[in-house]
Parts: sequence; C-alpha cells; structure tokens
Amino acid sequence: MNDILPGDVETWQFLEQKAREVFGTYGFSEIRTPVVEKTELFCRSIGETTDIVEKEMYTFGDKSNNSLTLRPEGTAPVMRAFIQNRLHALDPVNKLYYMGPMFRYERPQKGRYRQFHQIGAEVIGVENPMIDAQVLAMLHHYFCAIGIETVELQVNSLGCPDCRPGYREALITFLESRLDALCGDCQRRYLTNPLRVLDCKVPGCKESTQGAPSVLEHLCGGCEEHFSDVKKHLGALQIPFVINARMVRGLDYYVRTTFEMVTDKLGAQSAVAAGGRYDGLIESLDGPALPGIGFAIGVERLALMKGDERVQAPRPDLFLAAMGDEAAEKAFVLMSQMQRVGIRAEMDYQGRSLKAQMRRANKLAARYTLILGEQELVSGEAELKDMDQSSQQKIRLDELIARMGVLRASA
Ligand code: HAM
Repeated sequence: MNDILPGDVETWQFLEQKAREVFGTYGFSEIRTPVVEKTELFCRSIGETTDIVEKEMYTFGDKSNNSLTLRPEGTAPVMRAFIQNRLHALDPVNKLYYMGPMFRYERPQKGRYRQFHQIGAEVIGVENPMIDAQVLAMLHHYFCAIGIETVELQVNSLGCPDCRPGYREALITFLESRLDALCGDCQRRYLTNPLRVLDCKVPGCKESTQGAPSVLEHLCGGCEEHFSDVKKHLGALQIPFVINARMVRGLDYYVRTTFEMVTDKLGAQSAVAAGGRYDGLIESLDGPALPGIGFAIGVERLALMKGDERVQAPRPDLFLAAMGDEAAEKAFVLMSQMQRVGIRAEMDYQGRSLKAQMRRANKLAARYTLILGEQELVSGEAELKDMDQSSQQKIRLDELIARMGVLRASA
C-alpha cells in the first residue's frame, strides 16, 4: 500500500481529470460507493472459485458479526448501488464511472499492490453491440488523451450460459489428456475453473495448452453474431484491436465480449485496463434482468507508464520577498488578495534574510519576484522581476494585482 506524495500526485490528478473530461463527453456520470461491502456481494458476483474470492480479499467481522470486505473491484459495488437505489427506474440506460482504491491481498511487485486504484466505467441497460464498441472507443480515446499510445487492445468473446458449458466440456477433456504436464494449481482447478488454466503463467502449463480448443469455435449463433458486430463497429470507428482467443478473465461474471489493454512496458503486469460484458450479473444479485458492460483501468500502472513525463505541479506566479515587519505585513496582505483572485502568490513566513528568501523563490521556481522594503513602502513602487527573462520593470503596488492578472493571462 503506497502513499501518493506531492510530485507524484500531480500525475494522478491529471489522469483523473482526463477521465472526467473524456467520460463526461460520452455521457457518463460519477458514482461513489463505500470501500466496504458485505462479503457475500463479492462471493456471488466475482465467483467463489476465483483467486480474488479464494485468497485475496480483506475480510473481517464487524462488532455485530457482519462479514465485511474491502472492495477488491468496483463493478459489484456499482451493481449493488444500482439495484439498491433503483437507478433503472430513473433511466433505462445508465452510464456510470468511478475512481478510487481497491484492495487485494496479492503478492506485491512492480505494478501490483494490495491497495491499488481503479478508474472504471459501466454501462447498464444496452445489449446492442454498438455499446461494446463505444465503450472500447472511449477507452481508446482516454489512452490517447493521456498520451499513452504503446498499448494494444485485445478482445475476445467468452460466450454465454448457452454455449460456455459446451466449451468447458471440450476444454476439460483436452486438459484431462495432459493433466500430468500441468502445475499443481491447474491440476486442482481444471474441473472447477478450467478457463483459468489457459491463463496460467507456469511454462509447462503454457506449453501443454498450446493446442487447446478455442472459445471462439464454440460460440452459439447469438454470441457469434454479437462478436462479429462488435468487430464490425470497432472497424467502423477505426479502433485498432487484435483478437486474443486465449484471454480469460479472473472474474466469473463475464459473458460475450471481454477485453484487455495490454503493454509490454510493465514486466509481468501487462494489463493496464480490462473489462467486458456481464449480462446476467444484475439479475443474479436480485436486480432487474439488465445487461451491462464496462472496464477498469489500473491507475498505478498508468502512472508507471507515464514515468519520466510526470506532470509538474504548477509554479508560483509571484514570490513576494519582504524586508522588515511592516513590509512583511504588506506582502502578506498583497499575497492573500492575489490568492483570492487565483494568482499563485507565495512569501516567506520566517523573517529570513533577503538572500534566503530569494533562494526559496528560486527553489519554488516562481515566475516573478517582487522585493518589498521600507523604500518601496514609502514610494508605493517596486521592481517586478521576471525570473525567466532576467528582466525587471517598475510597478505601482496599488496596480500589482491587476498587472499580475494580465501577466498571468498572457503567459
Ligand atoms: P481486473 O482485471 O481485475 O478487472 O482489474 C482491472 C485493472 O485493475 C487491471 O487491468 C489492472 O490494471 C488493475 N489492477 C488489478 N489488480 C491490481 C493490483 N493488485 N495492483 C495494481 N493494479 C491492479 C476488474 O476489476 C473489473 N471490475 C473490470 C470491469 C469493470 N469489468 C467490467 N467492468
């Protein structure tokens, strides 16, 4: 679990701000849900046999013996909130986004943390494959907006409750024929969660599942048509993508379209964003039978990818250096008046020497500095120094705020 400190937080704010801007354009509104939910919610939605539910949840009992869990992801809480607040009664289509911390007890490594942050989006109420393409177009747009273009969009279809059982059977039969070559984990889960075996990172498992049956060859007519339409719409929007028929997801609620934004820049943690369709999830949580689709982006992974091009904190517009108590008082009032009108003004509070004050102005990279002493107070004029151009101009103190406003606007 990490602290996000000044110097890094500016990148985070940029990533969040861009999400608000881009998602807003597509008609999404923000939803904020609590960080804890009843444990049962995640067992029922993510699935009892998934890694998340089996071993990664922070679960505890409260003083009334309710079993609560720190949310390991955002989709289930948003669906819970959607059902509980009857959002479908207000609008048949809901487009929601969220951002915030998630918790998974995983083995930490670069790009994988126990408290991490997601920016996610969900659309509830649309079955049309156009929305699948639109959600992916929005994700693609977001990555362009934040200047990360070294990612590949991989898409797949996982079928539906009609065709998935047939595929599971075919996969189990295939896995049984090479059980000896699989790792202990996969030998244990090949019956309960055979799709996960395709995702196993152990080289022996990777190798021995090379010729595994493809989910795409087992889709029913409806799923095949849906997938083919998604691809057609993505083509029409010129969103680049590749098909990855071996992509399986670590959460059980997915049907039909699934996808990941993948990078080779983060070592083992290749997915910077992931999501898919979850028709059936809302109904299984005792809500209305409405389809849904969405994604979540890992913010730590984005920030790592931004790396050296971190977003800088804005520099002060003006540093007021003061000599003597009276000048300090005047500087203090001027500074506060400027801050009120949106000018980033700074001063020294410790009555230090002029040299020390100028060092601080340099450290803060102030655009302008102004020195106030006894003489300036008497004449009502001072030198405004442009620190970038190394030039200076005389300025009347009673015009300082207006002049700074003009200089700032023209910068
Ligand atoms: P997920 O694939 O479990 O999907 O997580 C989405 C993204 O969160 C990952 O691609 C990754 O970038 C980030 N992430 C996951 N675990 C960690 C971790 N331990 N440390 C750092 N980053 C992590 C979901 O959570 C689904 N709720 C996505 C979704 C939304 N599907 C439909 N709607």
